[in-house]
Amino acid sequence: MAQPQPYPSAIEAIGETPVVELSRLTRGLEGRILAKLEYLNPGFSKKDRIARQIIEDAEAVGLLTPRQTIVELTSGNTGTGLAIVCGIKGYHFVAVMSRGNSLERARMMSALGAEVVLVDQMPDSIPGQVSGGDLALVEEAAQRITAERAAFRADQFRQPGNFRAHYLHTGPEYLRQSGGRIDAFCDFAGTGGSFAGCAAAFKDHDPAIQCFVVEPEGAAVLAGEPVSHPGHRIQGGGYAMPDLPLVRPEHVDGYLKVSDEEAILAARRLAREEGIFAGFSSGANVAAALRLLAGPCRGATVAVLINDSGLKYLSTDLWEDLP
Ligand SMILES: Cc1ncc(COP(=O)(O)O)c(C=O)c1O
Repeated sequence: MAQPQPYPSAIEAIGETPVVELSRLTRGLEGRILAKLEYLNPGFSKKDRIARQIIEDAEAVGLLTPRQTIVELTSGNTGTGLAIVCGIKGYHFVAVMSRGNSLERARMMSALGAEVVLVDQMPDSIPGQVSGGDLALVEEAAQRITAERAAFRADQFRQPGNFRAHYLHTGPEYLRQSGGRIDAFCDFAGTGGSFAGCAAAFKDHDPAIQCFVVEPEGAAVLAGEPVSHPGHRIQGGGYAMPDLPLVRPEHVDGYLKVSDEEAILAARRLAREEGIFAGFSSGANVAAALRLLAGPCRGATVAVLINDSGLKYLSTDLWEDLP
């Protein structure tokens, strides 16, 4: 058998993350929750995958020239992935991020060689709560900088590489690691890229696998509800954008809502009971999976992604005043 060899760079260390059964959290419930530990990627999030795919897809069709500038709007994770991939490949990367996202993210991107542009939030927004309006300001800035520098826009909301990273890798890895025995999947949507890619891979394998989009309570626009709580706490998604270009409606079997409190409680339980130190949106995924096991998916095996590391939230109150 071939011996494992050192990878030529950290880019090759992206992916092939482990899957863990959350058997302590599901005690007393019928069914299983499987969790894919995406925080074990080099940039501590699932977004390393899309950074690699978007850049390598662009290179493959000649959209990138050597040393060209790459620009992206990011809540920090995609930017971290792009900073890693661009740094190794020799592209200059500009990360455009809302000041509402946690400071660790900006520091980490700078450390990895990115130029970080922070965009002020709307006058009535609260730090730590990035709304759709805040994101619109970040988008404006990203478009301006892209035009000024004749840059390549990584455009995670639209680039097929976001979908393809999860369709070609995350989903198939999950199926292999679970012996193909997944009954349901639920995923908190930002761009919807990981939902879309994994759901497509799962449905190719078995169309009966039920796929649920997870949204914040009070910002569940994909489920067709009005927005009453745009400033929710679940960083990385829930932007109340009514249309996510990468998500195919035929892959959505239902929508689930998770409150800030439920996401926080689940993230804290993940840390204390399972030894998995993750962020708000991973808590949202686990809270939604627990809801599925207690209700429509009793007895099923539910798959979730653990999107990023809890280390990215040390400056927030996610880990403060623990009981
Ligand atoms: C922490 C975190 N969770 C969830 C998401 C949403 O993932 P996706 O954009 O694939 O829907 C993101 C996206 O940036 C994120 O950073």
